[in-house]
Amino acid sequence: MPLRPADLASRKQAGLPISVLTAWDAISAAVVTEAGADAILVGDSLAMVVLGHSTTLPVTLDEMLHHCRAAARGMAAAAQAHQPLLICDLPFLSYQCSPDEAVAAAGRVLKETPAAAVKLEGAEPETLAVIDRLVRSGIPVMGHIGLTPQSVHQLGYRRQGNSTASQEALKRQALALEQVGCFAVVLEHIPSELAGELQQSLAIPVIGIGAGERCDGQVRVTADLLGLTSRQPPFSPPLIQGRALGAEALRGWIGGLCHPTAPATKPAAPAAPHC
Ligand code: KIV
Repeated sequence: MPLRPADLASRKQAGLPISVLTAWDAISAAVVTEAGADAILVGDSLAMVVLGHSTTLPVTLDEMLHHCRAAARGMAAAAQAHQPLLICDLPFLSYQCSPDEAVAAAGRVLKETPAAAVKLEGAEPETLAVIDRLVRSGIPVMGHIGLTPQSVHQLGYRRQGNSTASQEALKRQALALEQVGCFAVVLEHIPSELAGELQQSLAIPVIGIGAGERCDGQVRVTADLLGLTSRQPPFSPPLIQGRALGAEALRGWIGGLCHPTAPATKPAAPAAPHC
């Protein structure tokens, strides 16, 4: 049985760290499940990581559903006793236009995939009204404030909460997200002291990325941790150089290939071990 949104709150209450990793297909979800993540986020970062877009804006709801179903299959196939909570991002413009459209979009996520929750960005009054409507419709929502990549054309990818005014605004937003019924909130690229303060003041779990260690949990883009991306965020260093390691291993395999018509007595060449 996969974890439920409420299980993340139980982990916070028990003082246990919460791990959230992104996945975008069956193989990444299986790896993340086998690693023991508490939750899998099918994040709209897949627009950049997997689909090659330069921002997260172009990815569509249909594409998110497609990737979420693939991730769910990989998660189930991993056949771990412990199945993570599956959360799917609502992509740009699938929820901003009206609460009705947001319910329709989030409803599709819950009806057409095994995801048990959605995540969306922001805490402006209109977004809070959307979240309120989703929560009242029985749809668990994870909030996301600080650096919000869907607002890249306004905020860039800069750290947020650098001034007292912006810190106060983030505190108000975090509290509002809790009050409107979010089961957890992602804090992206904000000062760690502010994240620590929010971790203390909120009852719901705060999940950080680029927000220091004083959070209830951490979320990372798995491709960043594995060193697979070409655009590594400065606040999310790789654990391994997966891209370089993979390319090197494949280069070795390619270098060892021989053509079947190659003469058996080919002059000894350094990279022709089986000819
Ligand atoms: O889309 C994503 O991967 C995210 C994480 C960075 C939190 O929103």
